[in-house]
Amino acid sequence: MKGLILSGGKGTRLRPLTVTGAKQLVPVANKPVIFYAIEDLVEAGISEIGIVIGDTGDQVRAAIGDGSAFGARVTYIPQDAPRGLAHGVMISRDFLGDDRFVLFLGDNFIRDGIVPLVEEFRTGSANCQILLYRVSNPEAFGVADLRGNRVVKVVEKPKIPPSDLALIGIYMFDHHVFDAIREIRPSARGELEITDTIQVLIDQGFDVVPKVIAGWWIDTGKHADMLEANRLILETQEPAMLGRVDEGSQIYGRVVVQRGAEIRNSVIRGPAIIGEDTRIIDSYVGPFSSIYHHCLVQGSEIEHSIILEHSQIVDVPHRIEESLIGRYVEISRSPIKPRAYKLWLGDFTKVGIL
Ligand code: DAU
Repeated sequence: MKGLILSGGKGTRLRPLTVTGAKQLVPVANKPVIFYAIEDLVEAGISEIGIVIGDTGDQVRAAIGDGSAFGARVTYIPQDAPRGLAHGVMISRDFLGDDRFVLFLGDNFIRDGIVPLVEEFRTGSANCQILLYRVSNPEAFGVADLRGNRVVKVVEKPKIPPSDLALIGIYMFDHHVFDAIREIRPSARGELEITDTIQVLIDQGFDVVPKVIAGWWIDTGKHADMLEANRLILETQEPAMLGRVDEGSQIYGRVVVQRGAEIRNSVIRGPAIIGEDTRIIDSYVGPFSSIYHHCLVQGSEIEHSIILEHSQIVDVPHRIEESLIGRYVEISRSPIKPRAYKLWLGDFTKVGIL
């Protein structure tokens, strides 16, 4: 079997983090989201992986390379514009050949991996396998309507959902999917939808098997979901100490301190992760915080947040919570009079002040 990861698209819902960066490279527990997808595929015995890339393709290539670091062989497939998930599959026809494959959306997370699901599809006779998850807001996803264990209908972001079963962004197909894509037309949002493709397979009598997943699933497309994925991953990490902690500091619970990191006169309360060469000085880092590499947190308090690389938070008088902070951001007290907020904020930035 082969794997196909979609890593193009616009990422508008994660702005401003995605104005300059790929949304699939935003780190969760200090690891880019897309790495989890690659690891899930490799764990399921799939090492031939195609990655569909868009405008941010160069960054994705730089982060993943030829895939050998993951035990995979990666082929990049450029997509000229985000013309839909089914379009991503269609342009990957040469790479996929007639092999059965897993389509994995690069911003999707599934707790328990995909090993038994892939095994079942690999050895079974189904033409397509879809994964479903019960959600409270099905109108935000593709939704499936089941009769017993048969899928009768799948519909993309319906106003009136036929059920609470959302389509997870992990699908398995055989080569019949290519003929089905030829049957569909762009949807109202101008995209070739994978949901419409699956409906064609159902209508033509192909065997589409639904699997309802019990362990958590998250589409990290929005800020709150990103923080939630971060929380869930940190909760399961094994503590590790690869950096330096001085005698004036205390570390509690599941904390990972990565290589070259330095903790001075600070309290870190896990679950949390402190990235490579990051310095935490005279500060408090609370539960569910991921601070990426080469950051400085000094004289400040942070909790339940993700901070990207090379950012500095210095002498901030109130605790920072539930925040997503991008790369090379500086937040500090201004010593210069008059006493006022002095802000240099990029497009689509959101700031909550006290
Ligand atoms: O996350 C699950 C949902 O994913 C499903 O429930 C929906 O049925 C499915 O349509 C999809 O919905 P989204 O609106 O969340 O898809 P999004 O546009 O965010 O794209 C998903 C991933 O695929 C994202 O990593 C970007 C990438 N992508 C997207 C498009 C449209 C591409 O690589 N190329 C594209 O043309």
